[in-house]
Amino acid sequence: MAKLKIGICGWGNVATGLYEQLVSENEANANFEICCIGARRDNPICDPGSTKILRDIFAVVEEDIDVLVELIGGVETAKELITRALNSGKHVVTANKAVIFEHGEELIELAFKNKVQLLFESAVCAGTPAIKILSNDLIANKIFKVAGMLNGTTNFILSKMEEGASYESVLQEAQRKGYAEPDPSLDVNGTDAAHKIGILAALAFNSGLPSPNFYIEGIENIQTQDFTYANDFNMTVKHLAVAQLNENGVELRSHPVMLRKDSSLAGLKGVRNGIQFDTNLLGEFHIAGSGAGKESTASGLISDLFALSRYSKSPPMLYPDFSSKPPLQNFDDLIFKYYVYLEVKDEPGVLALISKIFADHTIGFDKVIQKDQLENNNVPVVIFTDPIVESEMQIALKALDSHQEVLNSKIIRIEDL
Ligand SMILES: NC(=O)c1ccc[n+]([C@@H]2O[C@H](COP(=O)([O-])OP(=O)(O)OC[C@H]3O[C@@H](n4cnc5c(N)ncnc54)[C@H](OP(=O)(O)O)[C@@H]3O)[C@@H](O)[C@H]2O)c1
Repeated sequence: MAKLKIGICGWGNVATGLYEQLVSENEANANFEICCIGARRDNPICDPGSTKILRDIFAVVEEDIDVLVELIGGVETAKELITRALNSGKHVVTANKAVIFEHGEELIELAFKNKVQLLFESAVCAGTPAIKILSNDLIANKIFKVAGMLNGTTNFILSKMEEGASYESVLQEAQRKGYAEPDPSLDVNGTDAAHKIGILAALAFNSGLPSPNFYIEGIENIQTQDFTYANDFNMTVKHLAVAQLNENGVELRSHPVMLRKDSSLAGLKGVRNGIQFDTNLLGEFHIAGSGAGKESTASGLISDLFALSRYSKSPPMLYPDFSSKPPLQNFDDLIFKYYVYLEVKDEPGVLALISKIFADHTIGFDKVIQKDQLENNNVPVVIFTDPIVESEMQIALKALDSHQEVLNSKIIRIEDL
């Protein structure tokens, strides 16, 4: 069988990781030949040996290759590169969730038109298999819900914060270890996880790529004390991205949540990612594994390359029919239970004021705890609410914030998994 001729574009963390695995001693590598690398500069962490280096990444498209592996990240240049490769009859493998989230439909159509494949296993959960499992292996199932911890950096930071470390020091460690995105703000502000759930929702529910706008919140406001209060109720804090098929359309969201510690995803620490699929035939189905880093991502990329090397026998993945898209549900209409953290003045009558505001908005309390005075003499009040619609909770929070006795407020939604 002829070897699959590969051109790699980009020469950063993931590209060098892929190269190292492709030149390592591994039987699967007999299927591949690295023909060239598009690298605008050398990378001291990896010596490409005698492999042809092209300083213009677009020149890779013109080479005698079967597949272009796009590993530059970002959206517009990556889209242009992938477009040119597909139009030149080259397959494309990419780990770039941003470009698939923004332009997936158009690029998949272009691949169809040119009778080539566009594969993106590593765009979600890095090397932990998710994309081909969803598109191929779950084909017989009706999927009701996809809930994922989809960002390795975020989970790494939250896991370390749970042990008492500071947010800033852990973010730096994640960057040093190559877990963080080229722009780490996309990890911590929830955008990267949102891209991934958008892609999974498109495969599970035809919701479209570009995905419609939906609610995205990051972990920037999570503090160590939130873990302490969560722990009192056998819960922990994670960042979760959810896609769910409801009667009125698709629910899509990416934000921090409190999870019961005995739920399937709560126990995943460090850069591990996990997804729970709720399906009709399998019931709850879970996957979990490393969701960031060069080795993990190389594993997913090589799975796509291997699928391409056998392409003549069977198509590597099945794409959804994007022609009829369900509507997106309004986030404000969704119902959650909430953890509410308030920092209030240590004055008589404040608890009564809080109770009245919540009662005015028909928000019931499941639990209320007043904690010891803080160093600044203010008092933390922690409330776990009964289920209430998001819009009502937002109005109640505004009402609380308008009182000078309430100095700080924050909510974390509680997810029942
Ligand atoms: N890191 C992970 O764990 C991980 C996991 C899954 C998926 N991914 C995805 O993999 C892709 C690459 O991530 P990475 O971590 O390898 O990023 P990275 O270390 O920043 O590497 C990006 C590479 O692309 C090059 N590049 C960027 N823009 C370019 C342009 N316009 N023209 C030419 N070269 C350009 C950079 O060159 P310079 O060095 O000259 O800037 C660098 O060599 C991203 O799409 C990311 O989302 C990453």
